[in-house]
Amino acid sequence: MLSLVTTPFALGWTLFTVTIGASLLAMIRFLFPNLLVEAPGRFQVGPPSDYPPGTVSAKWKSSHGIWIVHSDAYKGRDEIYALVAECTHLGCTPLWQEMEQKFKCPCHGSGFYVSGVNFEGPAPRPLERCAIRLAADGNLEVDKNKRFRQELGQWDLPESYVDGSVA
Ligand code: FES
Repeated sequence: MLSLVTTPFALGWTLFTVTIGASLLAMIRFLFPNLLVEAPGRFQVGPPSDYPPGTVSAKWKSSHGIWIVHSDAYKGRDEIYALVAECTHLGCTPLWQEMEQKFKCPCHGSGFYVSGVNFEGPAPRPLERCAIRLAADGNLEVDKNKRFRQELGQWDLPESYVDGSVA
C-alpha cells in the first residue's frame, strides 16, 4: 500500500486530486461574494444640544454620509436638519468649508450654501435632506431611507427637520 502512495503515478493522482479540489473550493467561494454591509438607515445622533445654532457637524459624515446642521439659513427658520453628503451633480462627496461657510464639491467645483442649496458649478439642484426627528429618549434620530428634495417643496415637510429651539 505504501508503495502505491509513493510511486510517481500515485503522487501524480494525489496532486491532481488536490488541485481539482482547490479549484472546486475556489469556485464555490466565488458563488458567495463578500457582501457590503451598509450602516443601518435609521440611527441616533445624540441630543440636540450636541448641535448648537450656527454649526455644521461632520461627526457622522464618514460613518453614515450625512452632516447635521443647525441653521436658520433656509427661509429664516431655526432648524436642525440632516444633509446627505452626496453631490447632486455626479455623486461625489463635498467638503464643508468653515471659513467660506459652504459645501464645496472637489470633483467639478459645485458649491452649496449651508442650507444645502446649490449656487455654483454644475450641480443641478440642492443637496438632499434625510428624515430627522426627536426620539422619545431625547436623542435625534436620522432615517436615511427617507429623502427630501428642496426643489419639490419637501423641505417644508415636518419630517425633514427638527425645530432648532429644542437644542
Ligand atoms: Fe460634484 Fe460634479 S460631482 S460637481
